Amino acid sequence: MQYQFLESDELFTRVKTLTNLAKQAAAAAQKQGKKTTEKLIGEIEKPINVPHLPAGFKVDVPQFDVTKRLNKLPRSWDLPQELYKKHLPKYNVGTIYRIQELLNSGEGYIGQTVTVAGWVRTVRDQKNLCFIELNDGTSFGGLQIVVEDKIGNFEQVAKTNTGFSLKVTGNIVKSPAKGQLIEMLHEVVIIGQADPEEYPMAKGVQKPETLRQKAHLRPRGNFFSAVTRIRNNLAYATHVFFQNNGCLYIHTPIITGSDCEGAGEMFRISTIFDNDISKIPQIKGKVDTAQDFFKKEVNLTVSGQLQVEHFCISMSNVYTFGPTFRAEKAHTHRHLAEFWMIEPEFAFADLFDNMEAAEGYVKFCINYILQNNIDDLQFLDKRVKPGLIDYLKDIVSKDFVRCSYTQGIDILLKAQQAGAKFENSDIKWGMDLNSEHERFIAEKVFQRPVFLYDYPKEIKAFYMKVGTDDGKCVRAMDMLIPQVGELIGGSQREERYDVLAQRIKECGLKLEDYGPYMDLRKYGTVPHCGFGLGFERLVMMVTGVENIRDVIPFPRYHGSAEF
Ligand code: 4AD
Ligand code: MG
Repeated sequence: MQYQFLESDELFTRVKTLTNLAKQAAAAAQKQGKKTTEKLIGEIEKPINVPHLPAGFKVDVPQFDVTKRLNKLPRSWDLPQELYKKHLPKYNVGTIYRIQELLNSGEGYIGQTVTVAGWVRTVRDQKNLCFIELNDGTSFGGLQIVVEDKIGNFEQVAKTNTGFSLKVTGNIVKSPAKGQLIEMLHEVVIIGQADPEEYPMAKGVQKPETLRQKAHLRPRGNFFSAVTRIRNNLAYATHVFFQNNGCLYIHTPIITGSDCEGAGEMFRISTIFDNDISKIPQIKGKVDTAQDFFKKEVNLTVSGQLQVEHFCISMSNVYTFGPTFRAEKAHTHRHLAEFWMIEPEFAFADLFDNMEAAEGYVKFCINYILQNNIDDLQFLDKRVKPGLIDYLKDIVSKDFVRCSYTQGIDILLKAQQAGAKFENSDIKWGMDLNSEHERFIAEKVFQRPVFLYDYPKEIKAFYMKVGTDDGKCVRAMDMLIPQVGELIGGSQREERYDVLAQRIKECGLKLEDYGPYMDLRKYGTVPHCGFGLGFERLVMMVTGVENIRDVIPFPRYHGSAEF
């Protein structure tokens, strides 16, 4: 199903009203045996409208001048080939083989006796034989188990169903069936049962939105287990990339007193809140935060950047990778209240060095998944997003575009004049771009990832370096990806004490809340830069999944914190 990205509460309310109307209409229609509720709701959830490129519309790809970079030498983030292939373990636990190991080995285990354990996907019962497909989650494919009626508990085994857990010992034999190299002939221990009448995963293929209601069982199916294996490898690839490029992993705090993005979208942490309001310590009608656990107001972090910068300006290149929290009431398909972010920070580097690192990192991740998760990708290509593998290969094969915000606005205006229809048609310098604009630039104009850089300072955070031009822009960059939109937000940081102090004031923040951060500009300040990549958006891009709630094990968003 396609969805519309809804950017504001107002839009959400509008859609909710429409949805309710649709439900009522559907109920009435159903009574007459007509359309289903789902179909009607589907009509409301239109895909986001990314305008078509007007016929004959062409722009010159802006030529990026390398001499503008602080480190003018050509610099590569490429890693040696041996780091692109993941080493895989042989056993799950003790002497239980991983099914992935047996399948990957081709004919390597033929003739050997091995034990495997996992969950039944399908059972085919024939007269004196039964075929079980067993999956232990280690690979997309399962192992075919052939059970003969010679074994003692054949009757019980033949009656097993999707979801049963089994431990099987047997010989690996070459399968006569085409495409299957391995079958086992064995001894089967039934460990756990699953009533097919009740077990949700026994009811065939289900939609992601239905499965979301059963988050604890999602990884038993093909779709979510494929997404989970890719997510795991993307996390692993992240560490491989940064560790092998000399960056230190810094564990930044979850609880913090500062608002990095200055957007006030934080979750408050407190031990003094009580359902009984009279028990909350108060002074003149306000909560007395001095009596709270940390003796001041603290929140869940929206970004580890400020703290990771502290380590950058003493240990050079660092990164953090952890959960971040935003109390945004955004009902879009790319926002969560709890998501994971990767935030590297590089010393003695500028905005264009930052873009090189970001491009190298994203390309490494995609190549890593193309090498290590091809079965999962083939499934997703077939069932979730046709053309996914070609889309990924295309991204890694081209240079990403570098285009300034000002050039971007120019492109949008020219496209509009040539006939492109934007929902938000009030395009002008200084505006914050909407998804439709960002995607138009990446998807239609350049057809590849684009770095948009040098944004008006009014629409960006306080810590970004004020440009040397006329001070109207900051050295920010966003990486925009076809079909996904913003994947990365980053910048060169303001390293000049006075300019930073001024920006903090301009943004309505309190200088005293940023004491340690200011100290870094007082003692041995250096030019430095960094970025934040939304991990779930990376998983969305690589899996082709359209809804961010389907790429995280336990999604948290406005109105929902289940499981
Ligand atoms: O652009 P953002 O807000 O940048 C920062 O937080 C900087 N402090 C990063 C830095 O320079 N170290 O967020 C970075 C990325 C976005 O580009 C987006 O991919 C993701 O985080 N993101 C979200 N992902 C899911 N749900 C949300 N609510 C998100 N908000 C941001
Ligand atoms: Mg951003």
